[in-house]
Amino acid sequence: MLKPSVLKELRSVVGPANISTSPEELVVYSYDATQRESLPWAVARPRSSQEISEILRLANRERFPVVPRGAGSGMSGGSVPIQGGVVLSLERMNHILEIDEQDFIAVVEPGVVTGDLQREVESRGLFYPPDPASNKFCTLGGNVAECAGGLRAVKYGVTKDYVLGLEVVLPTGEIITTGARTVKSVAGYDLTKLIVGSEGTLGIATRITVKLLPLPETVRTLAAFFSEVPIAAKTASAIMASGVLPRALEFVDQAALRAVEGYLKEDLSHGAAAMLLVEVDGPAECTSREADRIAEIMMRSGAARVNRAGSDSEREQLWKARRSISPALYTIKPKKLNEDIVVPRSRIAESLQEIAAIAERHGLLIVNFGHAGDGNIHTNIMYDEADLTKAETAVKEIFAATLRLGGSITGEHGIGLSKAAYLPMELGPDAISAMKRIKQALDPNNIMNPGKIFLG
Ligand code: MLT
Ligand code: ZN
Repeated sequence: MLKPSVLKELRSVVGPANISTSPEELVVYSYDATQRESLPWAVARPRSSQEISEILRLANRERFPVVPRGAGSGMSGGSVPIQGGVVLSLERMNHILEIDEQDFIAVVEPGVVTGDLQREVESRGLFYPPDPASNKFCTLGGNVAECAGGLRAVKYGVTKDYVLGLEVVLPTGEIITTGARTVKSVAGYDLTKLIVGSEGTLGIATRITVKLLPLPETVRTLAAFFSEVPIAAKTASAIMASGVLPRALEFVDQAALRAVEGYLKEDLSHGAAAMLLVEVDGPAECTSREADRIAEIMMRSGAARVNRAGSDSEREQLWKARRSISPALYTIKPKKLNEDIVVPRSRIAESLQEIAAIAERHGLLIVNFGHAGDGNIHTNIMYDEADLTKAETAVKEIFAATLRLGGSITGEHGIGLSKAAYLPMELGPDAISAMKRIKQALDPNNIMNPGKIFLG
């Protein structure tokens, strides 16, 4: 609990209207998309890096946890205040500060919604490629904290590939800038890359400078439907090996298709066992040729049907379905463990086979969908409360299989709370100890998002 005198100090930093302690408001800031929850002691909504710095200095003096929070859409518990303390919500720091059309740069505050930045730059003929499925509500600050991936990573990469520089409030309250506004900079250690993906444990990004690209002239979208999962998986690998680089290559299995069709009350797939959703972008003559080539590979590999989106609205309908899978899965079972394993993309078919065997062995429904082009499949173990132990055993087996195939236990959702127990499966003790030493150096009193990434 916070002492009344500390609450008073917090109120004087951000203003009384920007501190919440009522039980109703605490509940609102207690959970994320993992369904985990833990109540904070208070919520602070600062408006500047200076205010954040003052809160963090207070936290060090009084030794209370501070948990940064964007939209609470994270998938690994990163913003859940597991040890209580103060949730530091960045919702009021939600301004696009600059769009530089000359240098192809945008500067934003962390609370800007990713989709709002995408729309704003696109209206000027520019492009911010990272595209998490939750783009309508997730924030750039959250994307930076987790190094969000998304639907276009196969061609364009992930958040860290676009962050040129940051203003960061360190856990001890100093405000630093990292990186530069230039395409290149090798001045000292790359603190930008250290902060991106640090899951709110090493500091709070308060100003984010991102690189933009020219908006591709045209986009073409294809959906292919398959009667068997292995054929879809092999087709995905064949597309990636063909020399055409799509900007999206998504896989959706039968259970995910049925769930999203029921959720949106639409029949997309006419009973197919799997779907691939593929998109190419670039000059019209290129996308037309590439779309033809991909359609040909799909048919040759055994697709039952290939549809080309004939209009923007058809395209949007396909992407709406894809982006809705995550919430739609709750119509199957009340609980899911949503993983984001990643394997070398040539090994997706093997990975799906292993997962199917694990599902069968435990009598569990495991739903798979996601970024096949990246080898990054969202493996969702659906369960009722009574089956939690079984579901957790299955997760461990899936991680072991993933590592055997040369993969990683998390491609884009982060370790957070959900995977802390499994991190040692992937990283040796010396690597974990080096990470802990970095944490200790920057956050000696362990006030920044404690309990995340590492167990103990
Ligand atoms: C997605 O790709 O839809 C997101 O990462 C969310 C999820 O895994 O459910
Ligand atoms: Zn994803």
